[in-house]
Amino acid sequence: MNKNDLKKLIRPLVQDLHAYVPGEQPKIKGLIKLNTNENPYPPSPKVLAAVKAAVDGRFRLYPNPTSHFLREKLAKLHGCKAENIIVGNGSDELLALAIRAFAEPKSSSPSQSGDTAYFNRAENSKFTVQYFTPSYSLYPVLADIHGAAKNPVPLNADFSLPSVAELKRGKKWDFKAALTLVTTPNAPSGHGYANAELEELCQAQQGVVVLDEAYVDFADQNAMELALKHPHVIVSRTFSKAYSLCFQRVGYFVGHPELIAALDKIRDSYNVNGLGQIAALATLDDLKYYRANFKKVMATRERLSKELTKLGFIISRSQTNFIFAKPPGILAQEWLQKLRESKILVRWFSYPETKDFLRITIGTDAEANALIKAAAKIAAMK
Ligand SMILES: Cc1ncc(COP(=O)(O)O)c(C=O)c1O
Repeated sequence: MNKNDLKKLIRPLVQDLHAYVPGEQPKIKGLIKLNTNENPYPPSPKVLAAVKAAVDGRFRLYPNPTSHFLREKLAKLHGCKAENIIVGNGSDELLALAIRAFAEPKSSSPSQSGDTAYFNRAENSKFTVQYFTPSYSLYPVLADIHGAAKNPVPLNADFSLPSVAELKRGKKWDFKAALTLVTTPNAPSGHGYANAELEELCQAQQGVVVLDEAYVDFADQNAMELALKHPHVIVSRTFSKAYSLCFQRVGYFVGHPELIAALDKIRDSYNVNGLGQIAALATLDDLKYYRANFKKVMATRERLSKELTKLGFIISRSQTNFIFAKPPGILAQEWLQKLRESKILVRWFSYPETKDFLRITIGTDAEANALIKAAAKIAAMK
């Protein structure tokens, strides 16, 4: 079979897909990696010891299929029941499951599914995955994979959340969308949203709302109470960022048992690997260690923001483990390159609303110092 014949074996939807592009993971000696919002501090020694102690003959056995013990422990932490919780292979898996469980697939081609602006709103709500822009760039990719319709709606120009009245006036927002995904605090802007404004939005929605709190441990407030109060609201959390566990891939949703049971029906039988479950359980036994790390990250974030502002960067207040900074002088994309030449990797997104900014993950204090030094040199060059 030649290449063209093979291509015909692939569904048109998959042929046309643009895959998600994760941040680079280059192996360059001495590179300061501030591009993927990883935690600069390692997991607690107790977590590493628990994982090491589990590397034995039990590898031949399947892991707990429902992450039972982890769900019990998380339920205690959040003051709910295990039935309110589903654990995933990272929160990314659960976001994909939510789209499959709550939005109808519309078509077999992403170019046909497209933006809901092209369709009759009333007919399309049940196909619609809705989100603000900019926010987590995986959402449109997951919607396309499922063949759902997408409704991207811009945040305000300063990245604040539009009020319900503003959304009504804008006429683009769909209050009946099957699924609404809200990154809170927002990525990539770093903006935090108050529970009152999130609740106003949730109350106006008739479909499911997922509040994606991947970065919430670095914020002033979290919206867990909304998931336990409003049956159509789910809160998404991850062990990846604040709990230094990207490598193990553990995330979870908290929501009404009816919605959680729907997601549970369509997940893989053994979706969370055994070492991941052990690592997450041990993490919950040592929260003190992690809370000290959040404080360190936040202190570095404030210092870095101040120092870069002195160099001419424009930075609004971040409530995450990264800052979204508009660099002075040359284009942000040129800054990306120049920082890379100084062995510092940050992230740049080419979308019109983000192209003037760099997203810089908060590293250790030493990494922040290296960044400030390199930025001062680049700023002096222009
Ligand atoms: C907003 C947001 N949600 C979810 C995730 C995914 O996290 P996980 O590692 O749990 O899949 C990320 C990761 O970058 C993120 O930025």
